[in-house]
Amino acid sequence: MSGKVALITGAARGQGRNHAVRLAREGADIIAVDLCADLESIPYPLGTSADLAETARLVEQAGGRVVTAEVDVRDPDAMAAVVIDGVERLGRLNIAVANAGVCTVQRWDEVTPQVWDTVVGINLTGAWNTCVASIPHLAEAGGGSLILISSVAGLKGQPFFAPYVAAKHGMVGVMRMLANELAVHHIRVNSVHPTGVDTPMLVGLSGLTSRIEASPDVGSLFLNSLPIDVLEPDDVSDAVLHLASDESRFTTGLTLTVDAGSSAR
Ligand SMILES: NC(=O)c1ccc[n+]([C@@H]2O[C@H](COP(=O)([O-])OP(=O)(O)OC[C@H]3O[C@@H](n4cnc5c(N)ncnc54)[C@H](O)[C@@H]3O)[C@@H](O)[C@H]2O)c1
Repeated sequence: MSGKVALITGAARGQGRNHAVRLAREGADIIAVDLCADLESIPYPLGTSADLAETARLVEQAGGRVVTAEVDVRDPDAMAAVVIDGVERLGRLNIAVANAGVCTVQRWDEVTPQVWDTVVGINLTGAWNTCVASIPHLAEAGGGSLILISSVAGLKGQPFFAPYVAAKHGMVGVMRMLANELAVHHIRVNSVHPTGVDTPMLVGLSGLTSRIEASPDVGSLFLNSLPIDVLEPDDVSDAVLHLASDESRFTTGLTLTVDAGSSAR
């Protein structure tokens, strides 16, 4: 990663912070973006300014330079401006990780228009905006790696997650078409599909247990095959590092599962 620059959205905490620190440890400089605000439609707290500052401290401690920005991935103009600024300050862009995401739990008939718009807007449109903001800079660098953090819910129709499942499946469509369209620029595009990961987002899924208990027939859809309940962020960072590095230089259009076998069930 030496001499490379990576954009990571949702970098204030959780998996995004971990990807930032792991990439910096390997020599990368980081453009770290997060909303740093709570949202009315999302029933758990999101990252904060203090969280993003802590990510910056950890990246610097790991030996990387860092540019931070408090931006909503749903805002295409702000995303474009952040990437232009980051590239001016750090020199180039080689890697972009569309990681920012939110999740809600409800039955299909409990999905309000506001929840649908928020979850699809952040997870799918936000990922698209991240790609659009990054692609010209990746092309200018002679190629690069776009990594979309989807989910097992991007491969399976997990119940009680309607807008999340729709958005995470949608990311696979974006990934596949961009892999075809951008190959000519030597830009590789892949998606990562984790099962449950131990981050603050899991707090937002606390309503899931009672729903599964009320519908035991669908409970097995949430089980991993390997005997583990949740992954650690490092497990996902290992996949992100692989896709970011030249070790995957001929890998594009891949849905890479880090799901303890969940999607194979
Ligand atoms: N934790 C899990 O079990 C799990 C499993 C599979 C996939 N994922 C996916 O992994 C990614 C990272 O999630 P996490 O587990 O680290 O959760 P997290 O809630 O800890 O981190 C998500 C970060 O995204 C930020 N964010 C939310 N909306 C934003 C917006 N509009 N603009 C910019 N930033 C925004 C939040 O402030 C937060 O810092 C997400 O895309 C999530 O859907 C998570």
